[in-house]
Amino acid sequence: MDVIKTVREMRAFSNAARLKGKTIGFVPTMGFLHKGHLSLVKKARAECEVVVVSIFVNPTQFAPNEDLKAYPRDFERDKELCEKENADAIFFPSTGEMYSKPLTFVEVEELGKVLCGKTRPSHFRGVTTVVSKLFNIAKPTHAYFGLKDFQQFVIVKKMVDDLNFDLELVGCPIVREEDGLAMSSRNKYLSKEERKKAPVLNKALSLAQEMFSRGETNPANVRQAVIDRLSETGCKIDYVKLFETESLKPVEKIGSGNAIALAVFFEKARLIDNRVFE
Ligand code: PAJ
Repeated sequence: MDVIKTVREMRAFSNAARLKGKTIGFVPTMGFLHKGHLSLVKKARAECEVVVVSIFVNPTQFAPNEDLKAYPRDFERDKELCEKENADAIFFPSTGEMYSKPLTFVEVEELGKVLCGKTRPSHFRGVTTVVSKLFNIAKPTHAYFGLKDFQQFVIVKKMVDDLNFDLELVGCPIVREEDGLAMSSRNKYLSKEERKKAPVLNKALSLAQEMFSRGETNPANVRQAVIDRLSETGCKIDYVKLFETESLKPVEKIGSGNAIALAVFFEKARLIDNRVFE
């Protein structure tokens, strides 16, 4: 497995694979890999001839008051995990290699202003900018994203369509701990007590699904029940929203294929989760 640190070498690697007509499966990450990330690498490995994982904690998607410095990092461990999954290369650039006083940004308007974009107004602009750059550098034929970050997936999909990126975007299911907590690098920030409470996100989403299965279609009723359930743990609610999955617009009546997403704050961790109604 190659560890590639420069844009030039990454390009050369991908150009060589492309010249041979090979498919390139790409998994962009910020590292500190867990089973959620690795599920994307496994899927890429199963579907593509060449697999590239990027590890880059992207500063432009963090606001000044956010956890850029504290974000967990462990490259040696990540490298071992990627090797075990038979990845062909890790792209591991420095911040200087990726950015030198940029004046160009990619923004998917509207979709980036709702849900998580309300609390994190510059976040998705940072994501779409770095993902565009990574696509241009790694030149994948297929790119794998987790549905854990549902809004990110919808936004990247719109960007790929709008800007005619020549690749197939693959959405992958949420991987959870045994108690239902969605895996996330940020779960590390939870205290022992909070970790015990954190499965409430998934439980509240299950409650929403149960209500819908029993015939409830009023989003306000479901939202209130979810808020009540979350509030039992004392976490601070950022948002609970029911929405249409392409436009991310609120729904007036819940139907199959609509979704619910939520974000809550514990002391140091902001956790997100979502569920598509079946
Ligand atoms: P990161 O949070 O490291 O996540 C990398 C990829 O792993 C994303 O596509 C995310 O949705 C997926 N992922 C994380 N937890 C998951 C889980 N429990 N189940 C399934 N997939 C999961 O998302 C980012 O990094 C960044 O914004 C990035 C796209 C790399 C741009 O900087």
